[in-house]
Parts: sequence; structure tokens; C-alpha cells
Amino acid sequence: MSKPTNIPFHSPSISDKERDYLLECLATRKLSGDGGFTKRCHDWLKANLETPHALLTHSCTAALEMAALLADLKPGDEVIMPSYTFVSTANAVALRQAVPVFIDVREDTLNIDETEIEAAITPKTKAICAVHYAGVAAEMDTILKIARKHNLLVIEDAAQGLMASYKGRALGTIGDFGAISFHETKNIVSGEGGALLIQDDKLALRAEIIREKGTNRSQFFRGQIDKYTWVDIGSSYLPSDLLSALLLAQLERAREITDKRLAIWDHYRKGLQEFADAKLIRLQTIPTECRHNAHIFYLLLPDLETRSALIEGLKAEGIQAPFHYVPLHSSPGGKKFGRVSPRVGAGSNSSVGGSLPVTDAVSDRLVRLPLFAELEHSERVLDIAKRFLKTLSTKGVNYRSPLDT
Ligand SMILES: Cc1ncc(COP(=O)(O)O)c(C=O)c1O
Repeated sequence: MSKPTNIPFHSPSISDKERDYLLECLATRKLSGDGGFTKRCHDWLKANLETPHALLTHSCTAALEMAALLADLKPGDEVIMPSYTFVSTANAVALRQAVPVFIDVREDTLNIDETEIEAAITPKTKAICAVHYAGVAAEMDTILKIARKHNLLVIEDAAQGLMASYKGRALGTIGDFGAISFHETKNIVSGEGGALLIQDDKLALRAEIIREKGTNRSQFFRGQIDKYTWVDIGSSYLPSDLLSALLLAQLERAREITDKRLAIWDHYRKGLQEFADAKLIRLQTIPTECRHNAHIFYLLLPDLETRSALIEGLKAEGIQAPFHYVPLHSSPGGKKFGRVSPRVGAGSNSSVGGSLPVTDAVSDRLVRLPLFAELEHSERVLDIAKRFLKTLSTKGVNYRSPLDT
């Protein structure tokens, strides 16, 4: 019997268009930053996301670092963020010697729990960072309201959020700064890549300078000054135009790629809903005000043991299905550079124990299924996952909320 095809977790969607734009860029022999393709990417982002300012960076990490510089974070300042996120969200803050303050996430979307934010605010708080996990928006209206009340900046880590929206607004354009990723694992990719979206004109002008090694070179290229010089702190945050050529092709195919992913996401969802209804697993909630982009399809298992068994079962069939973040609040870096703001009322609840119970549980229980535009075997993935879940139902194992006493 022939072995079934291996199914990777992700694989970028590449067409002739990406190759054509790359060759076109090579032919220009203009490979450094801010060339014609970069400008076209900026125009695409501004038009499609309806944002006044968009700057490509070499990663979302770089965009987050720029946001931290633009927010003028000083040593000891605090930024409230979820612990269930990628290291770059916190590292950008730690690099400024400011302190990431970790709070818990909501169990339905795995986004920052907006009801926990106010309790974490201190006189040192400078900003709130919302991460839109899996391309599903955090509760932005409430976050903005809290930010306005306490005079805080809002940074959106929209690494996973391109082509997703909240109340009709593109993710990354709702707060003061939005950081997007075009890393190979994302929906729209340039291998490594990112963008910073900015709403305020003055901050955008400073962002151009920070991105160009602290110089006013962009103004020089626009003919606004006759020579450029060092005017502020900064670094080299811009990507090569070659990567922008690749990215432009992807951006122009963004609707097509997203629609293909959404179809697979819907297929998984329909196939697994009965197990969520039977309370064997928990599936992601998409709030009505959110349009998501099918960045991740995940399920939450009853515990670590059942999660490991499912991952192993899929692996035995050649299917890659990874878990996700190791919570930052319990990582060595998180302990050294950040601090936890425990869940409100956690002290009186023994199962909660003053930590971040949803974050801890999710990091043990979550598994992501393969999802990419050209995935042809979603039926096989689903069949194997369903076969496993049926064995769970016979064992009487159930999903219980980490917040239940
Ligand atoms: C939430 C989040 N923020 C930031 C990043 C960093 O993105 P990049 O690899 O483009 O620097 C990632 C990458 O996976 C992410 O998931």
C-alpha cells in the first residue's frame, strides 16, 4: 500500500505573478529599499486598508519596535498586553527598558481580555497592546474607550490580521499604530516582511525618519530638502525592493488567497461543530462585528494529554498539526523583563490561583490544523481528527473551562 502524502502545516501560495514581479524588479537593478515596488505596496495598503500612512518594514517585529520608539517608551514605562502572544510583542517594549505587563486572554477569541485591562493600569502605564489572534479582532471599542479615559496609546499587533476587520475597519488601522507581518507563515507573505500603519500625520513623519536610520532621507528623495542628515534616533527598518516585488504580487492576490483559506476553514468548522456541541472540544468564536481571514483554524482539547494524543495521531498519518505560543509570563524572558497582572478576583478562586488561567490552559490544549490556500487534503485531516474525537467521546472526557471552579 502506498504511503499517504505528507501534509505540511503551512505552505505559501505562489503563482506566476510573484515570479514575474521578481524578475521585473531584478531587471531594474534597483534592489535597495523604497523603490518602485515598495511604493506600490504602500499605495495598495493605504487604498485597501483605508489608512493614511503605511510603511513597509523588514518584519512585524521591526514594525513593533518602531511603534515602541514612536510611543516614546522610557525605562520603567508599562505596556499592558496579553501573555498569549509571540515574543516580539513584548520584546519591542523590553528593548526600550519598559515593562510588558501581562494579562489574561478571553476564552472565546484568545484575545486580550478587555475586562481585565483597567485593573492592570498604574501611573506608569503608557500603552495597551492588543494582539488580534488568528486574524480575529480584539474588542477594540472597549480598548479604545479605556485608552482615551486614561490617556494611553493603543498599539495593534495585527501580525496575523491582514484582510480581517472589526466593525468594517481593517485590523491595524483602529489604534494609533498597527503592525502587520508578511512572514512565510502568514496568509500574505514575502518570506520575511512587515508593515507599520499609522494614523497621525506627525507620528508618520517621525516614523519615516526612524525607519531610515534616523535621517530625513525620505524628504530628500521627495525633493523637499536639498540634502539629508541625521535628525533623530532610528535604525534600518526598510525591506529590499526585491521583497516588495514579491509582496506586491501577494497583495494583489490577497482576496483570492483569503477566500481559498476561508473555504477550508469553513469546511473544518462544519466537520467539527458536532464535537463542540457535544462539549468534547471548544472551537473559536468569531464575534459578529469581526470578519476574520482564516489565518488559523484551532481546536481546544480537554487537556494536555488529549492534545498530545491528537497531535501524535495526526503525525502518524503524516499531518503536521502544531500547538502554539508558550505563554510569555512564564517564560524566562517574561519573568526577567515583564510582570503579571493577575486575573481580577483570582485570589478567591482556587483553580485560578492568581495566575493567568485561560492563557495557561490554552497553551496546553490548543492545536492548529493545516491551513493554506492550496491545501487539497482537508477532508483527510478532518477524517483523522474526527476519528480521534469519536474515541474521546467513548472515554467520557469533556472540555471544561479553566475558569470553572
Ligand atoms: C502576534 C505576533 N506578533 C509578531 C510576530 C512577529 O512577526 P515577524 O516574524 O514578521 O517579525 C508574530 C509572528 O508570528 C506574531 O504571531
